[in-house]
Amino acid sequence: MTDKLKQLPPAILTLDDKSYSLPTLIGAEGEKAIDISKLRSQSHYVTLDEGYGNTASCESAITYIDGEKGILRYRGYPIEELAEHSRFVEVAYLLLNGELPNSQQLLEFSTNLNESSIIHEDMHHFFNGFPRGSHPMGILATMVASLSTFYPIPDRLDTATEQQIVINLISQVRTIAAFSYKKSIGEPLVYPSYKLKYVRNFLNMMFSSPVRDYQLDDDIVRAIDMFLILHADHEQNCSTSSVRTAGSSMANVYAVASAGISALWGPRHGGANQQVIQMLEQIHADGGDGTEFINQAKDKNSSSRLMGFGHRVYKNFDPRATVLKKQCDKLFDKAGVSDPLFDIARKLEEIALKDDYFISRKLYPNVDFYSGLILRAAGIPTNMYTVLFAIGRMPGWLAHWREMLHGEQVIITRPRQIYVGEPLRRYQDIEQRP
Ligand code: ACO
Repeated sequence: MTDKLKQLPPAILTLDDKSYSLPTLIGAEGEKAIDISKLRSQSHYVTLDEGYGNTASCESAITYIDGEKGILRYRGYPIEELAEHSRFVEVAYLLLNGELPNSQQLLEFSTNLNESSIIHEDMHHFFNGFPRGSHPMGILATMVASLSTFYPIPDRLDTATEQQIVINLISQVRTIAAFSYKKSIGEPLVYPSYKLKYVRNFLNMMFSSPVRDYQLDDDIVRAIDMFLILHADHEQNCSTSSVRTAGSSMANVYAVASAGISALWGPRHGGANQQVIQMLEQIHADGGDGTEFINQAKDKNSSSRLMGFGHRVYKNFDPRATVLKKQCDKLFDKAGVSDPLFDIARKLEEIALKDDYFISRKLYPNVDFYSGLILRAAGIPTNMYTVLFAIGRMPGWLAHWREMLHGEQVIITRPRQIYVGEPLRRYQDIEQRP
């Protein structure tokens, strides 16, 4: 426990006629906690909290969320202000270093990202080894872990090496992502360019080819940049907790980042925006306006849900959704730009927001409701959506890895369990078994 947490009067817990005094603490934004770290050694009791929904696994100064009020801040800055005024590279610097950079710091960071974007030439052979149609997330997780073999890390990390590793990961995840897409469609790889900034460089690697230049659209570049900012961190979510857990064993950071990518891959985490688009495509193909789909989502006998609605933490609105909705409106209100799926999404939202089922359960559009539409407008194929999420989340994962590494002590993550299996029984020879 650090001295950043203020102490409150202790909580008294009575168990088996004995009383235990448990320290209670208060965080910077008034979040209260009971410290149970000594409870087991004192009482032989553990606490049970499946999915850790009521457990703070660490102290962190990176991101603050208040789900009831729809607040999300990185290092104290509201997400709305960062999305409006900042750019992804600047936000990455903020998450990693705790402060916004001055002009010189931003230039150095950005230049270093550019100069670290190329991956070792021998890694290109790996891309040829993946079967046609491999999921880009599988390629990404493998290739990021394999960076550990091309860029070995010394046992003792000095500040400069640590900084370079962080830069490599943020820059090279983008190169690997674009290469994995090119591989999946059977086109030659397009190298990164020192002339292009982070998002432009990525889009150019994705969509240009030796026979075709890619025309970068400023509004698309801005929308993708904003998507990355909004996904850059979200405190102790599943993938970030995986990063902290893997990192707590002092594993190689490239392998740690790969653990984050693997956790993100699941449809309950990074995969939801893809499902929103699939839902909208289905409604479009059926020729309806979504009313029937909404009725199905409300039906207790059906397992279908309105994808992109509801959130485990945000119970009034998802601040990231508010920002992305505006960006979506801007993109699709442009002359000549249209997408029937966006029209269906608008209609669905309109119906659901007036429907008592959704109102009474506090189900509002989440970030995934709009993010898929933005990626679709940029021409990103649906199986790359989670990859884009991983590019955005990389600075957050690394900020958490760093925070853990430089904390007062690195405690290996090792939760307890409550055993519910067989009691002691004796080994039987195979002939005697039923
Ligand atoms: N459509 C229809 N009904 C829903 C939906 C939905 N999208 N979400 C929740 N409900 C209903 C449930 O059926 C339940 O109803 P009941 O009280 O009558 O039984 C009630 O609302 C509460 O549902 P829970 O699953 O307990 O809510 P929880 O907060 O745990 O779930 C979750 C959050 C998983 C995001 C859920 O809302 C959902 O499945 N949404 C659709 C998937 C989605 O969009 N995921 C992306 C999340 S954002 C992100 O990961 C970046």
